[in-house]
Amino acid sequence: MKEIKKIGVLTSGGDAPGMNAAIRAVVRTCIFNGIKPYGIFEGYQGLIDDNIKALRSHDVSNIIQRGGTILKSARCEEFKTVEGRAKAAEVLKQKGIDALIVIGGDGTFTGARLFSQEQEIPVVGIPGTIDNDLFGTDYTIGFDTALNTVVEAVDKIRDTASAHNRLFFIEVMGRDAGFIALRSGIAVGAEAILIPEIDTHYQEIESYLANGYKSHKSSGIVIVAEGEKHGGAYEIAKQVGEDHPEYDVRVTILGHIQRGGAPSAFDRVTASTMGVGAVNALLDDQKSIMVGIMNNEIVHVPFNKTIKNSKKVKTSLLEITKILSI
Ligand code: F6P
Repeated sequence: MKEIKKIGVLTSGGDAPGMNAAIRAVVRTCIFNGIKPYGIFEGYQGLIDDNIKALRSHDVSNIIQRGGTILKSARCEEFKTVEGRAKAAEVLKQKGIDALIVIGGDGTFTGARLFSQEQEIPVVGIPGTIDNDLFGTDYTIGFDTALNTVVEAVDKIRDTASAHNRLFFIEVMGRDAGFIALRSGIAVGAEAILIPEIDTHYQEIESYLANGYKSHKSSGIVIVAEGEKHGGAYEIAKQVGEDHPEYDVRVTILGHIQRGGAPSAFDRVTASTMGVGAVNALLDDQKSIMVGIMNNEIVHVPFNKTIKNSKKVKTSLLEITKILSI
C-alpha cells in the first residue's frame, strides 16, 4: 500500500460525548508518527465541500473534557450516492490526503464501506454513538456518559415519584436498541424496563403492578426505550392510565440531554485508546475496518461484519430487574 503521509478525520451522525477525545488522540498520534492530520468539518458533507483544515497539536488542546465535536457533525444525503463519494475522493486526492478516519455509528460505517470499495483510499472507523448498538465492540464512545446522564436525571425524578406516589414512564434514547434502557434501568432500580428486543411489554407492567405496586410500593419508575415497538412512553402510559385510573401516571422524555455534557472518565479512556488504535491500524495497512474494544483489548472488525450483524442485548439484565424490583 502507498505510504501514508496525511490522514483526514471526521465525525458523522449523532454526536456523542468523547468524540473530541477521539479526535485529539487521532491528531496527536498522527503527529507523533510524522503524519499530517487534517480535520474535516461537518462530516461527509464537509468532505464533499472541501471544508478541511490542517490541524496542529494545540488545535486539540483543552478538548478532552468537552462534549459534542469540534469538527461538527451532519447526516449527509449526497454521500449516499456514487457521484457524491467520487466528489469526496477527488477532494482528498487534490489535498494529498491518503487515508481517512471516520468517527460515528452504523450509517457512518455504511458510507465508509462503500467509499473504500469504490476508491483506493483506506478508511478506518471508530465507533462513536451513545446507542452502543454496534456489533464487534463492547462499548461505543458516548454510551457510558449517556448512561450516567440518564441515571442522574432519573434519580431526581424518583424524588417526585416518591413524594407524590406517582408512576413515571421515562423514555430514553437508543434508536432501535435497548442498551441504554437496560443498563440505566438496572442502575436506577427501575420497576420495569421496556426494550424493542423483547415483546412482552404489557405483561411486564401488569405483573409489576399486580405484585409490587399494588401490594407494597407507592411509586415507581418504568424505563421505556424510544424504539419500543408498541409506542413510546406516552402511548404506553396512556394505556396504563386508562386501564388503571387509580394510578397517578406521569411521563418524561429525556431526549437530547442524553447526547451532551462532559464525557465520563471511561469514555475519555475508550476514545483515546480507539483514536491511537485507528492511526496504528492505518499504519499497519488495515482498511475498511472498525477499531473496537472487546474484553479490554483492541480488535479490528471489518465494516462488513459490524454493519450486517446486530449486537445482542444481554436479556439476563431483565431477569436481574425482575428479581430486584419485587
Ligand atoms: O444515534 C444516536 C441518537 O441519539 C439515537 O439514540 C436517536 O434515536 C437519534 O440519534 C436522534 O437523532 P437526531 O438527533 O437526528 O434527532
